[in-house]
Amino acid sequence: MSELKRERWGSQWAFVLVAGGAAAGLGNIWKFPYVAAENGGGAFVLVYLVCILAVGLPVLMAEFVLGRVANKNNLDGIRDIVKASDAAPAWVGIGWMGMAALLVVLSIYSVVGGWALAYFFGALSDLIFPNVNSVSEPGASFAQLTSNPMKSLGWYTLFMVSTIAIVAGGVSKGIQRVSLVLMPMLLLLLAILIVFGAVTTDKMQEALSFLLFPDFHKLSAAAVLEALGHAFFTLSVGVGAMIAFGSYLPARVNLMKASLAVVGLDTLVALLASLAIFPVMLANGIASDTGPGLVFVTLPIAFQQMPWGQVLGILFFLLLSCAALTSSPSMLEPIANSLQEKTTLGRKKGTVLAGGVIWVIGVLQLLSLSGEGIASIAGQPLFELSGYLVSNLMLPAGALLIALFVGWAVPHSLLKSKRGIENPVSFRLWVTCLRYVAPFGILLILLSGL
Ligand code: PHE
Repeated sequence: MSELKRERWGSQWAFVLVAGGAAAGLGNIWKFPYVAAENGGGAFVLVYLVCILAVGLPVLMAEFVLGRVANKNNLDGIRDIVKASDAAPAWVGIGWMGMAALLVVLSIYSVVGGWALAYFFGALSDLIFPNVNSVSEPGASFAQLTSNPMKSLGWYTLFMVSTIAIVAGGVSKGIQRVSLVLMPMLLLLLAILIVFGAVTTDKMQEALSFLLFPDFHKLSAAAVLEALGHAFFTLSVGVGAMIAFGSYLPARVNLMKASLAVVGLDTLVALLASLAIFPVMLANGIASDTGPGLVFVTLPIAFQQMPWGQVLGILFFLLLSCAALTSSPSMLEPIANSLQEKTTLGRKKGTVLAGGVIWVIGVLQLLSLSGEGIASIAGQPLFELSGYLVSNLMLPAGALLIALFVGWAVPHSLLKSKRGIENPVSFRLWVTCLRYVAPFGILLILLSGL
């Protein structure tokens, strides 16, 4: 396989922060806490950890290995590996399916990322100009934001432009540079929010035991599937984002250690986010089955009633914005890099073109939320349909194909040709998970989603 001159991550730690930052996003801070709360806390967390280790981690490692062996953009890289493996040509579809999924995922992700920015700047301006434009009722203001596309459009565009700017900056001067600032900031913000919750409420102990002590009565089959599905989303696997990140791995990085660290960081952020949110929920009588509205509707109401709540709100939405902005570039990078290498556009123009196309799709997503039947299919808003399609179909199907391709079709000699999984026991375990465990788990999600 040809060795292209390619940008590289600076070090093993830089890679862990960048890939961990890509993994830890809205999924960890917006989704994980409400799903864990809904499903009884500890028992769900335990099942989730098993899913992450048995299914998520092996597929994540498969993506990193594919990227490292390919050493070029996802589309050409997978084509090369298919050829070198003498595998059926249809496997190249993995790259193309990933691109299609990324277009959809990033368009909805940026809409929610825009809301995070809107709340952050809204809370900030409330603090600076307390009497102007104050958000009297957060629930109502969320409804206004979502149902009025013009209100969301600016914030959505700001989020998208920031993502484009980061990716256009390049691998080390754009994505890595931003993640190395935002990730430590994200961890600091989490720590501040946790200390704050511990000091201002007396609920930290209750929150800890809710999160850590399993109550299996509350665990349903649906919760297990939810944990399995979320394991893919939170680790960003199934769409090729991590293949692209793997293709920039410097030779000295130990893949096994780095993958474990990425998974550890992602899980840590999800658990810390829950510890930041649960005490506030418990202290303010927020029900554990609040659902997706927890972060944008219920928490802001709680913040309004708490001492220092305004500051808390600002810090929380800054946290959410940082988390989203370290993940969104990983969705744009594979498309931008493919355009960069397959056309004469260059990185900057390729990124702007890819981002522009996704921006248009996102505008349709926004319009579909207006409640007026625009951009809806059979009465269902595009936004809802896309969310369903992504988590129930595209991500699991992509992950299934990657697990089967690496597990069965790529010869072991090729997987070991670059620094792959070196320990022979780990290698066997990894291949077994890819061949049997992951496909079985993923088929369950796919069947249940139908
Ligand atoms: N893992 C990200 C999150 O938890 C979402 C994501 C999915 C990012 C797929 C890239 C690709 O928010």
